[in-house]
Amino acid sequence: MKKRSKKLAVLVSACLLTVAGGATAWSADAKAGKATYDKLCVSCHGADGKGNPAMAKMMGAKELNIVDKETTAKKDDVLIKVIVEGAGKMPASGKNLNKQEQTDVLSYMRSLAK
Ligand code: HEC
Repeated sequence: MKKRSKKLAVLVSACLLTVAGGATAWSADAKAGKATYDKLCVSCHGADGKGNPAMAKMMGAKELNIVDKETTAKKDDVLIKVIVEGAGKMPASGKNLNKQEQTDVLSYMRSLAK
């Protein structure tokens, strides 16, 4: 029986590693998201997320604020869809981002709202 329990222990720790690794891969990293935000989003949405007024005027967009309650109340998948596919006058800015980068940039965006 001894041999068998050792095998089981190896199996269990392998499973735990997989779960922990998966969690790390999916947890949002706002810091990493900042680099993406500064590159792809800041020109329209502003460094503070409140929107670049000059850009809003130029685009004829009502507002570019993404830290207001109306935006932050929306669910992650709704916002990610806008980031990746665009909406209205928002271009599909995040179309080349992978899942991790999408989550990171959303997390950074949400951190600006706090
Ligand atoms: C060219 C300007 C522009 C760029 C660049 C841009 N956006 Fe936008 N964004 C907009 C506009 C305009 C809207 C409003 C769209 C609409 O009419 O619904 C918007 C809407 C959004 C919304 C939805 C807000 C809501 O209340 O539903 C999110 C989230 C968002 N942008 C995030 C981002 C992120 C993250 C990036 C960078 C990856 C980015 N945007 C880049 C112009 C831009």
